[in-house]
Amino acid sequence: MLDVNKIRKDFPIYDKHPNLVYLDSGATSLKPKVVLDKMNEYYMEYGVNIHRGVYSLSYKATNEYENSRKKVAKFINSMFEEVVFTKNTTESLNYVALAYSKKFLKTNDEIIISELEHHSSILPWQHIAREKNLKLKYIPLDEDGRVTIENFNKVISKDTKVVCLNYVSNVMGYITPLKEIIKKAHEVGAIVIVDAAQAAPHIKIDVKALDCDFLAFSAHKMLGPTGLGILYGKKKIMKNLEPLFYGGDMIDEVEKYNSTYKELPYGLEAGTPPIAEIIGFSKAIEYLENIGFENISKHISDLNHYAINQMKEIADVKIYNETADMGIIAFNVKGVHPHDVATVFDQYGVNLRAGHHCAQLIIKWLQCVGTLRATFYIYNNYKDVDIFIKALKNAVSFFKKFEGDNDE
Ligand SMILES: Cc1ncc(COP(=O)(O)O)c(C=O)c1O
Repeated sequence: MLDVNKIRKDFPIYDKHPNLVYLDSGATSLKPKVVLDKMNEYYMEYGVNIHRGVYSLSYKATNEYENSRKKVAKFINSMFEEVVFTKNTTESLNYVALAYSKKFLKTNDEIIISELEHHSSILPWQHIAREKNLKLKYIPLDEDGRVTIENFNKVISKDTKVVCLNYVSNVMGYITPLKEIIKKAHEVGAIVIVDAAQAAPHIKIDVKALDCDFLAFSAHKMLGPTGLGILYGKKKIMKNLEPLFYGGDMIDEVEKYNSTYKELPYGLEAGTPPIAEIIGFSKAIEYLENIGFENISKHISDLNHYAINQMKEIADVKIYNETADMGIIAFNVKGVHPHDVATVFDQYGVNLRAGHHCAQLIIKWLQCVGTLRATFYIYNNYKDVDIFIKALKNAVSFFKKFEGDNDE
């Protein structure tokens, strides 16, 4: 059992907004004070650049920074060299798509994705497929909108070179059966890139057990700061990627017409990184590990069931993912635009997302203009769900009053 009252005290935003019902953690999570304090400590006590200075403050900053990388590596069960810092999941996914395709892909090679992906897994591959004449293939979704092994087997072929899929869908909250997919992909010599943006805040990531080739996630969705993404890559593959960005900190030797670059991970990290954010992120990982991922999953799944059971009783509410594996509920009030419903929620202090969630293909698959999306995290309690349900019921009756007004 999570002690949510105690947890909420760690999040200063609740001091400022005691009635906040924050159900948009799928977009970004709230930040605990320990993370903010750690970033502040860097700025107040040793806020200098890393890797460059030959003085004690710089050594201190470098040590804290690299300790954070060690923490991330341990957190996902990888090696230190396999963790590259980026700006966000989007940059990590673009980085690997652009760098890998530049070196390893040729005309008619096949890339497999799905309609369940976030735009950051679709658009880079659309672009590269056009540029390099690759074939972009979609795994047909089953009737609930899930990616299944059976359907994956229908599209994989000897020409498949890359499979890029989410670990957890940001709209439907489904967990992708990655282990089997990865095994199958490796049998035909394809690599698998995992978008773990929605998984990392909820599931203990183990890149070795998954055996994925690349994996991307963002610090800001898991109690960490914005501006920081992680790209994990298997050393044997990542060491053969050419950098996409060139400049300071990533070089070994610079000559007039040629240069050499540092070993992993530094050769792929050009320029001054988000030092404070990387150092602060170590505290987010500690915070989550202290709570424990099993406790987090249990709490969120309890809240999810509590909410869904009540939502099912409200006429005119359509839930798109009743069988979600994660605390994500995609829903609509029938006949009402999700943006309009969201404004009613806002009046109750309920903050949730409305729209296409940067995943227009699954929204089209669902045949709607967009959805509302409520996402739960460790600081949400049953009272939050009660207020959410009350707001939803009132939104339904408010909009239903006007039903028929447009019929004349
Ligand atoms: C599944 C998924 N992938 C990728 C992203 C992109 O994350 P970021 O905006 O941090 O780059 C998100 C963000 O919502 C997401 O939910």
